[in-house]
Amino acid sequence: MEIRVPTTAARAKVGPMDGFADRSPTFIQLDKPDAQAPRDELLAGLQSRPASIAPKFLYDALGSRLFDAITALEEYYPTRTEAAIVERHGAEIAAACAPGQTLVDLGAGNCAKAAKLFATLKPPRYVAVDIAAAYLRDALERLQRAHPQIEMLGLGVDWSRSLRLPAEAGDGPRTVFFPGSSIGNFSPAAACEFLRSCRAAARGGCLLIGVDLLKPRHILEPAYDDALGVTAAFNLNLLRHVNALIGADFDVRQWRHVARFDATRGCIEMRLAAREDVRVHWAGGERQFLAGEHIHTEDSFKYRRDDFAALLRDAGFRQLHWWTDDREWFAVFVARG
Ligand code: AVI
Repeated sequence: MEIRVPTTAARAKVGPMDGFADRSPTFIQLDKPDAQAPRDELLAGLQSRPASIAPKFLYDALGSRLFDAITALEEYYPTRTEAAIVERHGAEIAAACAPGQTLVDLGAGNCAKAAKLFATLKPPRYVAVDIAAAYLRDALERLQRAHPQIEMLGLGVDWSRSLRLPAEAGDGPRTVFFPGSSIGNFSPAAACEFLRSCRAAARGGCLLIGVDLLKPRHILEPAYDDALGVTAAFNLNLLRHVNALIGADFDVRQWRHVARFDATRGCIEMRLAAREDVRVHWAGGERQFLAGEHIHTEDSFKYRRDDFAALLRDAGFRQLHWWTDDREWFAVFVARG
């Protein structure tokens, strides 16, 4: 998605007289990157049976670009369906959120989705949260120039583990924004825990969240196994990332992308299957994978609208509003209370 840098003419409207001209974003890194932690987590997953690698390792620099490419694919409907819902019902969504609160953006990335809400939510403060504050620097600096009236904070924290917000994230009610159906990458039990922490972080404000809805297999599976092979490249790139992190010798060509809808669990399971017998080595260890053996890399849960509403209630939210598209493929919820 495009972020427009303001033209000189647009900038001229906010001259030194408004008091915000020299404002710049603040960056805070809460979680110190720990070189050993990803290694321990990866080794535990690689040695378990069946083997698994956590989906967060999909997002190195190339993985993040491949994910951006996925969102542009014809088969991958969630991003554009969510954007269309927000576009169509923007005024009602903003009214349900109560404008004028701090906006907290979880997994902010390029901050483009949240930036589209500034006009209606009118946040005095924008808190972009991502694993590394450094990832947010370019996007936030551009956004700050375009929106000098908004105080901007880039926060580096592993929000999927713990959603602690520092005093700089402001007191008072907040709107916590969690788009893209990233909640689907948690198991339902973990999702409930995470939603509870979102409720606490909202401090009496609200959660604005996108969720992908259950639909037939013939729509779901191509969304995760597209004709161009972009999702396959995204999944296989994980092995290159693991090689870099733990000095392993995965050969990407020996593995195949698999994405299957498990109707019982209600989720797309992404895996990597060995094309042949493979022996993988890393500093201090190795593992043999037999031909056809899988490494689990991601679950993407899909919900019935009422089941997701029940999950929000289990997490403590009392007042729910929701919007969907004509095909009922995706839902946007505002939850408070
Ligand atoms: C980030 N997350 C919501 C995506 C999803 O749809 O579960 C990740 C993804 N995996 C494969 N394609 C997209």
